[in-house]
Amino acid sequence: MPVVQENLIPQEREPVPVSATDVVRVFGPASLSNLGPGFDTLGLCLEGVGDVIEARRVETPGIHIVLNEHPFSAGITLDPDKNTAGVAARMVAAQLGYTGGLELRIQKGFKPGSGIGSSAASAVGAAYATGELLSPGMSKHELVDAVLGGEALASGARHGDNVLPALFGGLMLVSSSDPNQYRNIEIPAGLWIVAILPEVQVLTREARAMLPVQVPMQHAVNQASSLAFMIEAFRAGDWAEVGQRMMEDQLAEPVRSTLVPCYSQIKAAAMAAGAFGCALTGSGPAMFAISDKHAEAQSVMLAMQEASLATGIASSAYLSRVNEGRRPKWRCS
Ligand code: HSE
Repeated sequence: MPVVQENLIPQEREPVPVSATDVVRVFGPASLSNLGPGFDTLGLCLEGVGDVIEARRVETPGIHIVLNEHPFSAGITLDPDKNTAGVAARMVAAQLGYTGGLELRIQKGFKPGSGIGSSAASAVGAAYATGELLSPGMSKHELVDAVLGGEALASGARHGDNVLPALFGGLMLVSSSDPNQYRNIEIPAGLWIVAILPEVQVLTREARAMLPVQVPMQHAVNQASSLAFMIEAFRAGDWAEVGQRMMEDQLAEPVRSTLVPCYSQIKAAAMAAGAFGCALTGSGPAMFAISDKHAEAQSVMLAMQEASLATGIASSAYLSRVNEGRRPKWRCS
């Protein structure tokens, strides 16, 4: 299995745990962001795909990151000041006045840079595990600044549409001008989500830089209208309308879809297979589609992957329910 050896902390420099039992292990979930017309404002938490993060106190001062030996970890820095998990954990530790050593063991559960919130999953997992380790029962609301700080490192902006769904679960509405303002939108059960990750590289920083500085007034008005209708459709569980509205983004997707050579083919295949809608997620290249039936969602997933492959682009894909954020943390003690 290919592993970037230089990314692993050499054995002799591994910090020594103060107490082998003083460990908190949590799941940092993947998430969909920019849901349709919800650029920077609407995100949803996925189930079953994400990172597992362990935090423990160690004698060696500072933050120490250890990554699992897996291709998903390749290229991820162990420098805590350049790693989203390290930045988020450091902020939580500082908030709590902890000056001792901290080790973060990260098992990457999916590919970074794919569009379903890899940096957010690590930042949220690290912040939550650190909070639980140093101040058990700490409110998730107290972790918001830290997870936004981790995200800002990765993408260059404090946008909350990945980190907040990953932290709280469910569907989250976040203010784009002040991501400390957010709320959960309750939605009925029944939604199936297909997320496909074509093997195309899109860097969030670059995908943000390519967005227009100004847009036509009519596009802005249309966007606001589509977002409002989509949120109402989510609340009502009207998945057909959610699907229709999620394809009405006029701000980001028209520009960013040009970065994904198989975009039109995947979208057409998803719709032909019966999806209610299909759109880019995050800054791409990931795309998602929705359905209300498991078997249909499976067919949609297969059709999307086949369409991608037909253009010469391999992909991985996930089929998920909405993660309501109720997964218990695992505390090892
Ligand atoms: N809202 C973010 C963006 C999500 O589109 O840049 C990607 O991290």
